Parts: sequence; C-alpha cells; structure tokens
Amino acid sequence: KVYRASTTAPVNIAVVKYWGKRDTKLNLPTNSSLSVTLSQADLRTLTTASCSASYSDGDNLTLNGEASDVSGARTQACFRELRTLRASAELADPSLPKLSQMPLRIASENNFPTAAGLASSAAGFAALVRAIANLYELRESPTELSIIARQGSGSACRSLFGGYVAWRMGSLADGSDSLAVQLAEASHWPEMRALILIVSTAKKGVSSTSGMQQTVATSGLFKERISAVVPSHMDAMEEAIDQKDFAKFADVAMRDSNSFHATCADTYPPIFYMNDVSRAAIRAVELVNREAGRTVAAYTFDAGPNAVIYHLEKDKDLILGAFKSVVGGVDGWKAEDTEDAATAEA
Ligand code: DP6
Repeated sequence: KVYRASTTAPVNIAVVKYWGKRDTKLNLPTNSSLSVTLSQADLRTLTTASCSASYSDGDNLTLNGEASDVSGARTQACFRELRTLRASAELADPSLPKLSQMPLRIASENNFPTAAGLASSAAGFAALVRAIANLYELRESPTELSIIARQGSGSACRSLFGGYVAWRMGSLADGSDSLAVQLAEASHWPEMRALILIVSTAKKGVSSTSGMQQTVATSGLFKERISAVVPSHMDAMEEAIDQKDFAKFADVAMRDSNSFHATCADTYPPIFYMNDVSRAAIRAVELVNREAGRTVAAYTFDAGPNAVIYHLEKDKDLILGAFKSVVGGVDGWKAEDTEDAATAEA
C-alpha cells in the first residue's frame, strides 16, 4: 500500500530582509523579517509526498523530474522532525499505520523556470514540509510547521502562509521561538501587486547561505543593521501594513533593501548582487514616483540582480509604462506582471 498527499506552497518576497544567522544548523536568524506572499497562480511549488513499506530504495527526492540529493542536512532535519511528530501520534494511537517507519518519496515541481533566478528554496521547503505533514495527518498549526520549514531554508518558514507574514527571530537556543506568524491575509490589502523584472537568469554568484555568513563575520555595518535598523523597520512595516499606507510601506521596503545591499558591500571581500540594470530599475522607480508626485512604486532586491516592484493595482499602467520606456532597450529585461501579489491562504 502506498500513502500519498499533495500540496502547493507560494513564493514570498521579503520587504524586511533576513540576512545573518546566529545558528547555522538550525537556521536561527540574527534579525526578524517580514514578507509578502506572491500569488500561487504565478509562482508556486507543487509537491507530492508518498510513503510505503514496499519502497525498497530508502528516502528519495525528485525536483522538476530530476533525481536530487536527499541526504543533505537540511532535508534530513525536516524528515527527522516530521517523523518524530508522526511517531508520537502513532504511539498515542496504536491503530495508526506506522508511516513514520516507511521510506519517503518526494516529488517537487515549480510552475516557473528554476533558471529564472527566483527564490525557489522558500516555496520548495515549505511545500515539502506541508506535504509530509498532510501525509502524516499532523495536527500542528502552520506556525508550528514553520519551525520545521525554517530548518530547511530560513525564508521557507514564511511560505507556510499567504498574505503578510513575519518571522520572529526568537531568542531560545533550540529555536522553538523562531517562527512565522501571519500578520494579515492577502484580502486585508487586495490591491497589492508585485512586478518581477528578470534582469538575469544566471545562477547567483554567492549563495545567500554563504553570503550571509561572510557578512556576519566581516561587516561592521551589519551590527548597526541588526541592532537598530531592522527593529525600527519591522515596527514601521507592521504599521504600514496595518494602516494600508503604501507610501510608508514603500519607504521602508526600499530603505531595507538598500540597507541589506549596503551590508553586502561592507562585507569583506565585498558581495555585489545588484548590477547596472538593477540600478537602472531603482532610478526608474525614483523617476515614476517623482513624476506621479506621490509614491506609486517600491523596489526590493534579494541575493541577485532581479527587481521586485511592489505597487497598487490602480497604478499598474503607470508602472508598466515606466519600465517599458525607461529600460525598454536593455538586453535581458522581461517584465512579468504577477496579479494578486499577495495571495490567500497557502
Ligand atoms: C536575501 O532563506 O535562502 O532572500 O536560510 O541559508 O536557506 P538559508 O537562506 P535563504 O535566505 C534568503 C535571503 C534573502 C532575504 C529574505 O528572503 O528574507
């Protein structure tokens, strides 16, 4: 007999960035972070988890149809934690089949090209954890599961929810208080949109995992970021979302992206994720805001050159026009409009 469950998980893009770990094994961060979940119609990972006593080849994992390494510490940590939860349910109810003792098969697929250079580890680990939790019929809440997804990839803990999500850094050594909570459903602010500008599809030079470790070890600016800058950005961003104040949301998002990339430049040797085209996108946002006489767009950049432009539905034509005219001639630009940036429950 084969037991099976499927699920999807969305991509999230941080507007207050996670950058730095205080524990690299548990992915415990040096600061809290906050993200907006993108619509699953555009970007999502679909994962099927199955298990059977008849699977003779042990645990296995395929990503977009190709066999992938299942022995990595992060994947193993997620499997171990989920099996422990299932095992205690089996202990409490001996009539349950012993799924915790069977090999697992995980098949994961993105509905966007992995080569697009978009964060896929967040949706990937969130979907893996949710799929196995469904297979095991676990009763744990998304917040409880976020503690497990975090061990797969830090940012994955935020992809267990739709809408607006905070990852509270916590202070305990075992990570049991480093978890994600939903601040608001997507429907709280349904006009929010994200435009993704694919500047380069090349694989990033320095992975976020290793980049953030180099920053923690060498940047002086980073200390200021985690002690003063991020705490004030978290407060301001939560207020902006609560009040649906786009100008404030945009101001904090852009300042936080700039602060994050400044600490990358302050890392020694320096790390540069943005390129000339990324910087042109920043100028384009400044220009469209100036010409509109109000804030209509906000940029943010992760560990790569692609821009995510947040805006409201009513300003869509203005934003698309601005990017077409300003950067229309630059090689490698592809504007993809993602409707319903923030989406409903994962
Ligand atoms: C710049 O979550 O990919 O996108 O925990 O090592 O897997 P690991 O790192 P990861 O880092 C994401 C960094 C970021 C900012 C963010 O998403 O908050």
